[in-house]
Amino acid sequence: MRRLLPSLFSFVLLVAPLQAHDGDHTHSPVAAVKPAALYQPTAMPDRIVLTWTGDPTSTQAVTWRTSTEVEVGLAEIAVADGGPNFGENAKKFTAKSQALKTDLNTAHFHSVNFTELDPGTRYAYRVGDGTNWSEWFQFSTAAAEHEPFSFIYFGDAQNDLRSRWSRVIREAYRDAPKAAFLLHAGDLVNRAEADREWGEWCGAGAWLNAMMPSVAIPGNHEQAREESGARRLSHHWRPQFAFPENGPKGLEESCYTLVYHNLRIIGMNTNTMLEEQAVWLDEVLSENESQWVVCTFHHPIYSTGKSRDNAEIRALWKPIFDKHKVDLVLQGHDHTYGRTGFDVPDELDSEDKVPSKTASPKLDADSAGDRDIENVPTGVQVVDEEHGTIYVVSVSGPKMYDNSRYKFMKRLAEDTQLYQIIHIDDDVLRFEARTAVGELYDAFELKKQAGSINKLVELEPEVKEVLRPAVTDKELTKTSVGKLIIASADKNGDGFLTEEEVPEENRGGFPEADKNRDGKLSAEEIDAAIEAAKAAAGQ
Ligand SMILES: [Fe+2]
Repeated sequence: MRRLLPSLFSFVLLVAPLQAHDGDHTHSPVAAVKPAALYQPTAMPDRIVLTWTGDPTSTQAVTWRTSTEVEVGLAEIAVADGGPNFGENAKKFTAKSQALKTDLNTAHFHSVNFTELDPGTRYAYRVGDGTNWSEWFQFSTAAAEHEPFSFIYFGDAQNDLRSRWSRVIREAYRDAPKAAFLLHAGDLVNRAEADREWGEWCGAGAWLNAMMPSVAIPGNHEQAREESGARRLSHHWRPQFAFPENGPKGLEESCYTLVYHNLRIIGMNTNTMLEEQAVWLDEVLSENESQWVVCTFHHPIYSTGKSRDNAEIRALWKPIFDKHKVDLVLQGHDHTYGRTGFDVPDELDSEDKVPSKTASPKLDADSAGDRDIENVPTGVQVVDEEHGTIYVVSVSGPKMYDNSRYKFMKRLAEDTQLYQIIHIDDDVLRFEARTAVGELYDAFELKKQAGSINKLVELEPEVKEVLRPAVTDKELTKTSVGKLIIASADKNGDGFLTEEEVPEENRGGFPEADKNRDGKLSAEEIDAAIEAAKAAAGQ
């Protein structure tokens, strides 16, 4: 197959007279609703999202969007009670407001940080302009004393947010309706500056985002490309969210730390400034007094995506996780599921990605299906005296890749949309991965041990791993052809081919194949080009 790829590539990009592709065969006489109309801002607040910039026991931030008619955003907050008149003595806050020009419109984004709140208290708030108000939403501040709590973790949402990701966040809510917050490990959207996609992301969470705070860090798909080719954080990120600004300078709201009860959350930005973040991480962890530490970032330490690796991030950051015995690392990017135990390699061989500590850690390409490893029976306790960090990669959206299937992974999945619920009760952390229909797919418990690393208890359910069957050349689907081409040429591992990544002799075909004119080729665009090329050649 490998030998076939370059010729297929030339064939596609040089020969293909590209034709419009219409994948929808059920035609309605009604015209499609245009994104510019569907996501038009009005004076009525929308895209309301709760976040924290500081202490969850006494503060709560909220951001929202309106049309530019609303020049001064207002918020009201009151202690909620069972009676209907809770809002009578509401405290008023004036928002910080800013204009954001997007590909669809110009809107005003407003941000208020409610301060001097009482711990463990249920509040009602609304946002608006004094005339047009949102409904009253309710949230609770964190209690001053430790209480058991849960949070929900999502890997990449990224694609088909309205159509096929919304069910995941909503099913997760049904499973953990009292969760303290929602954690997103990057790639919330596919195109960093597409207003429609941010509208879809906000629409999928809808009123849940206004009642349960979000914690999020940017993935590579929240990186926009300047005309010069330089990458920068999406213009939507900082207006849409209010995150802490306590990370390295230059990474405000994309690298930060928060404390919720006995948990320190550390969010990092794997797109840039990796060394500066390593120094900062070591400082934060050296001063940490919280019982539990969860780190989250996008590109994983152990990539579960086939033919992918982030060796630089692993070399820079893993020694710091080891040094401070970080409990749990939550990641995304690879559109598969993979969860380690404590026994993880320090290095992966750069040539074949074989972990150096393990003799034969990967499956042969042909023996996919069942993994040839010793399953860890439920309830068996494994203790690694050295480090004790568990690494997880997950995916919540519908885009799916092949899994790298490292043997040191305790549980893998392909072609499965998942959400994770993490419960923390004093010295016990319980992790559950559930599928988009709520089925338990993976679970383990960590228990704090005085003077030692955690005790790990495997609680995997009796559910077979969902893995793709072995793929032969004959069985290759259209999409997997596109994915293979991308994987082999995608130097920066962002899942797209940029003009520089396309072999020089093929670059003439790049603009034609780039249907959405975003300067890069997706798997779908490559597949469309292949189809068009085949049609032109009469195949
Ligand atoms: Fe990604």
